[in-house]
Amino acid sequence: MSLESLRVLGEQFDQDKLSITEPADLEEVRIRYLSRKSGRLTQALQALTRLPKEDRREFGRLGNILKQRMESELAELEASLGSVAQARRLEAEALDVTLPGFRTSLGHRHPLTLVREDMERIFIAMGYSVEDGPEVETPYYNFEALNIPEGHPARNASDTFYIGGELLLRTHTSPVQVRTMERQSPPVRIVCPGRVFRRDDLDATHSPMFHQFEGLVVDEGVTFGDLKGTLELFHREFFGEGTRTRFRPSYFPFTEPSAEVDISCIFCHQKGCRVCKQTGWIELGGSGMVNPALYGFVGYDPERYSGFAFGGGIDRYAMVKYQINDIPMLFQNDFRFLEQF
Ligand code: DAH
Repeated sequence: MSLESLRVLGEQFDQDKLSITEPADLEEVRIRYLSRKSGRLTQALQALTRLPKEDRREFGRLGNILKQRMESELAELEASLGSVAQARRLEAEALDVTLPGFRTSLGHRHPLTLVREDMERIFIAMGYSVEDGPEVETPYYNFEALNIPEGHPARNASDTFYIGGELLLRTHTSPVQVRTMERQSPPVRIVCPGRVFRRDDLDATHSPMFHQFEGLVVDEGVTFGDLKGTLELFHREFFGEGTRTRFRPSYFPFTEPSAEVDISCIFCHQKGCRVCKQTGWIELGGSGMVNPALYGFVGYDPERYSGFAFGGGIDRYAMVKYQINDIPMLFQNDFRFLEQF
């Protein structure tokens, strides 16, 4: 062992240091030179005792300097390896916060919901309340108490979904008239939107399930003029100021007299077009003065009270308002269609 061998050890250490690229390499080099038992420098320093006395002091001094150099250089390397590793990790996990984000598409209200809410808003402003009724009904409410006696063609099984013998899916929202009058005494002022069912095949203008809204007003001194004024106002609010409303004599068992309700064509302003079939008018529903026969079923005094009722298709109002010419579109939930509203 000589001073020369210490110098060589130092050079080899410098050489080995160059190959260190990660913490595991560094550990290997540390063990190679500095491990307590087998480190090459450790062993060189242990050999000190075998040197001639006069060389020991210098050998010890240089050996310790080399040891300190190795230790401090390795520590330095270790620190910089740490920051390299951290830099690498940061680079791998980098987020570009300036990239545009993903757009979440906002939902739309369904056109039928828009129409229903609009109808409710207009009638609530006129002092009406919104009522609800069951979709599964008894023949009593759907027919009997609406003055549709047994044997009436409207009861026909080919139009009505019967459930067992006792129940049916309501064919219109009119049963809510009866249920409301049973529950409360006049004055009554309600609208009721809801689903109704008929045994129709699905085509462009028919659906086995569709939507109606029913209106009912009963009080002292209610006249046909009130009915006309109410629907005229409603249609002007709903379709626009210039909209006219027309009443045509008709027949419904639950109203007397009865009238079909038309509006002036909002597309051609009555010049004649495809939508109004050149007539200038679009048919929207039925109406009339409540048939006093109904009061007998709910215990109202027909001498004291009179009332009017109306019913229309929500789907029909939606189709006219938004120019939709195909009923199934309303129920298919096709995004390309729904996104337009
Ligand atoms: N219920 C009738 C139908 O489904 C519509 C109707 C007509 C309702 C006249 C009424 C009314 O309230 O007065 O065809």
